[in-house]
Amino acid sequence: MISLSKFIFSCIIIFLVKPTLSQQSYDSSNCDSLSQVQGSNYLCSPRISDCGAYIVYRAQENFDTISLISSLFNLNQSILLFVNKMAEDDSNWSLPLGQDIIIPITCHCLGGFSKFIFMYNMSKQDSFASVACKIFAGLVKVQSLIEENADFDGHDVPVGSLINVPIRCACPGSPQTRNGVKYLVTYPILEKDIIEGIASKFGLPEKDTRDANNLRQYEAIFPLTTLLVPAKDVPEVRWRNGSLFQEAHLLLEQ
Ligand SMILES: *[C@@H]1O[C@H](CO)[C@@H](O)[C@H](O)[C@H]1NC(C)=O
Ligand SMILES: *[C@@H]1O[C@H](CO)[C@@H](O)[C@H](O)[C@H]1NC(C)=O
Ligand SMILES: *[C@@H]1O[C@H](CO)[C@@H](O)[C@H](O)[C@H]1NC(C)=O
Ligand SMILES: *[C@@H]1O[C@H](CO)[C@@H](O)[C@H](O)[C@H]1NC(C)=O
Repeated sequence: MISLSKFIFSCIIIFLVKPTLSQQSYDSSNCDSLSQVQGSNYLCSPRISDCGAYIVYRAQENFDTISLISSLFNLNQSILLFVNKMAEDDSNWSLPLGQDIIIPITCHCLGGFSKFIFMYNMSKQDSFASVACKIFAGLVKVQSLIEENADFDGHDVPVGSLINVPIRCACPGSPQTRNGVKYLVTYPILEKDIIEGIASKFGLPEKDTRDANNLRQYEAIFPLTTLLVPAKDVPEVRWRNGSLFQEAHLLLEQ
């Protein structure tokens, strides 16, 4: 048993070594890692049971229209079109692969962790690993899928099974709210991403983004993991170099 003085001593050490800037931490382990560490799931305080939050999803093969992406997340297509500044009749328009799509969600506090849970229908080529790391690009970890779907043997999930997908999300803490942060955006990190670049994509200082993840200066980030971005407003979709415009132009020329 740990004596009280030892306990207090460790608390002081932890406090001195790593000042807690945010409630959340960054989990640098790959999405297929079977370890759950601090940051594998984001913490919630029961006082704030729900909040609005956003996820960044990247268009990919089989999920490359707003219509397909809205059914993937089981969300209202009109709302998704609106948030991404697209017109009602753009729902079947082929998105450039890798395009960031902003997904508005309600983040719920469940068992101490904040999540957005929905059902996913397993198809022939799917495994927990491909669902976590490919379809959702690390927004959820394999281990979280295993824990959330204890009825299935993670290695052999029959085609057509509906599994629960718990996407990591988080609500701003009171220091963040005082700073004007309205939402936290769960951002799946790309191969070449650096924090400064991600922060500038959202019009934020690098330091705010590091602080939101308890990342120290020079601490590295890795692909297929997630970063929380503290947004003071609804995050804006950045269309890749005029792709929408180019497409519209091509249509006009035909
Ligand atoms: C989607 O949202 C729009 C706008 O809020 C609403 O008018 C529409 O009924 C919703 N559709 C469904 C299927 O819930
Ligand atoms: C998109 O495709 C679906 C299914 O093919 C169709 O029902 C719907 O009308 C299309 N929507 C638009 C806006 O073209
Ligand atoms: C899952 O997908 C399969 C194949 O596309 C389909 O037949 C089945 O009805 C779906 N299951 C549910 C519950 O939607
Ligand atoms: C966008 O594309 C044009 C030509 O295709 C190129 O000259 C320009 O540098 C690109 N802009 C950005 C921001 O990538």
